[in-house]
Amino acid sequence: MAANKPWGGRFSQATDQVVETFTSSIEGDRNIAVDDVEGSIAHARMLAECGIISEEDGEQMVLGLQKIRVELEDGSFPWDARLEDVHMNVERRLAALIGDATAGRLHTARSRNDQVALDVRLFLRRRLGEITELLARLERALLDQARQHVDTLMPGYTHLQRGQPVRLAHHLLAYREMFARDRGRVRDALSRCSASPLGSGALAGTPHPVNRARVAALLGLNGVTPNSMDAVADRDHLLEVMSASAISMVHLSRLAEELVLFSTAEFGFIEIADAFTTGSSMMPQKKNPDVAELVRGKTGRVIGDLVALLVTLKALPMTYNRDLQEDKPPLYDSLATWSACLEVTARMIPAITFKKERLRQALDQGFVTATELADHLVTRGVPFRDAHGVVGRIVAHCVAEQKVLADLSLAELRRFHPQFGDDALEWIEVERAVERRQVPGGPAKARVLEALALAEAELKEPVHE
Ligand code: ARG
Repeated sequence: MAANKPWGGRFSQATDQVVETFTSSIEGDRNIAVDDVEGSIAHARMLAECGIISEEDGEQMVLGLQKIRVELEDGSFPWDARLEDVHMNVERRLAALIGDATAGRLHTARSRNDQVALDVRLFLRRRLGEITELLARLERALLDQARQHVDTLMPGYTHLQRGQPVRLAHHLLAYREMFARDRGRVRDALSRCSASPLGSGALAGTPHPVNRARVAALLGLNGVTPNSMDAVADRDHLLEVMSASAISMVHLSRLAEELVLFSTAEFGFIEIADAFTTGSSMMPQKKNPDVAELVRGKTGRVIGDLVALLVTLKALPMTYNRDLQEDKPPLYDSLATWSACLEVTARMIPAITFKKERLRQALDQGFVTATELADHLVTRGVPFRDAHGVVGRIVAHCVAEQKVLADLSLAELRRFHPQFGDDALEWIEVERAVERRQVPGGPAKARVLEALALAEAELKEPVHE
């Protein structure tokens, strides 16, 4: 047997050194090592229960594997870089602990193809639980800020032009909706990580009388995959998780971009605490929103991770191909980056001070209640299209005269249209404008308080799959 080919009666030559490094997946495999051992423990138990191996061999295996799990956790596991992957590392270590003969029976009725497929599912269930908690933490941070700013008004934007007045809480709650949907996407993806592929073998199952459902139950999974070929070829669950990650990063980048914009002197809407900003090596006055910029910047990489796996899978023939080893580095990168961005953003949100006066001043310019004036005419029987035209002419007049709507008198308004009522000027007050928007999902105070209460109640529920 060639020295670095533990499985190899077939080979007379050792693997080339460069090939050994080239084909190795050890670096990334550290992420799934614990899951690999968990899967093996369940497999060993089942093999013994089904009489495929002896009770005693089963016990030896489980004890050895439990020791390996401790070694992995305390960092003393002796990784051997010459062994291709985590599976061979664990198997060799087990042989060192309990002897070749017993350890050599662990791989009965199993291939590394169904083994790695299981490992990644177990890994995802573990990691996605953590990510769900991070998403919830970020949502809570947004809700806490929203609670404090129910009565803070600001312009809502379209085309980055001032549009209509809203409550700052409503604006913040819009972001919380995005992250709540992200949490839902994680939950959906998790439901497809919960079937056990073990028993699918290399591609065509196994002749041994295994109990697949038992392995699944031992691992807390919900059932078994239905087709052995699909089970070892399928990477959809990775794609789904990485899609959720990319979408969530896009959300984070939109929030980050607003934090960058709003902290400029030009906007001046927010101040980010010193602990979340950095200085310039040359310009002493600078206080830069680097955290938000990096979150925005890292989004590109996470989108790239998803695209990388899509392209790897495209046109790949059945079933397992070694290309599939390339699925995990982008997965790990995507999840690590997403987690880091969620965590830092959740910590930064409470460190933001909103400058209420600046937000309020921004409402004085930009004709944010022009729509109200048109709606006022509508309530007095004028068709909206005509009302829109009338108010457009009023705005043009104000621009020419360097006035704002509040500078106009009722008499002046009536010069543009006789239907302006006695209360027309009230319609352009921003507080009243916001309060008229009682529509479900709208920014009126009662609606915002309801939305806050709903979101807070939802986040109190325990996180479940
Ligand atoms: N490192 C491999 C992977 O990640 C494990 C499965 C190897 N299977 C094989 N037939 N070489 O895909």
